[in-house]
Amino acid sequence: MVKVASASQADIDWLVREDASAGRAWVSRCVALGEYLVAREDSEIVGFLRFSRFWGKVPYMEMIRVLPDHRRSGIGTALFLAWEKAMRGDGTRLLMTSSECDESRPQDWHRRNGFIETGTIELPGLQSVPEVFFIKHIA
Ligand SMILES: CC(C)(COP(=O)(O)OP(=O)(O)OC[C@H]1O[C@@H](n2cnc3c(N)ncnc32)[C@H](O)[C@@H]1OP(=O)(O)O)[C@@H](O)C(=O)NCCC(=O)NCCS
Repeated sequence: MVKVASASQADIDWLVREDASAGRAWVSRCVALGEYLVAREDSEIVGFLRFSRFWGKVPYMEMIRVLPDHRRSGIGTALFLAWEKAMRGDGTRLLMTSSECDESRPQDWHRRNGFIETGTIELPGLQSVPEVFFIKHIA
């Protein structure tokens, strides 16, 4: 049985290890602001979702990751649905996410969760392929 909750200070070392590209300072910042959800099975963390806010307003899912041995058993969906519910509760009507344009599997997963593609931007010097943006209107 998967349980999703906001990450706490005690989860920081795990997140620094598993969300390696973020770095400790950003991980700590996101935990302090409530911008991480973690999924637990038998009290072990098995996945996380990290977000920020575009324009300081629109929730933007920056990263969702489930540990390889735990994939395809509903944990990513549980994380996403918990996030969507929390954002709806805050009065949000639009969600955003993005993905590198050649990452077809995550994109399929975003579409499966109701996101629609809305455009791409080039990021010369930062990324060799364009980034594809997705939005989802929530009632
Ligand atoms: C993408 C990811 C978070 C999905 O989490 P997950 O726990 O494996 O997904 P779920 O088990 O909740 O998937 C639910 C459904 O989506 C399908 N699915 C799972 N991963 C998928 C993928 N990569 N592409 C397309 N469909 C996928 C499952 O088959 C399942 O469908 P079903 O219910 O019809 O069988 C996980 O695969 C992951 O961590 N990937 C690596 C990191 C990544 O790419 N993150 C996204 C970009 S930030």
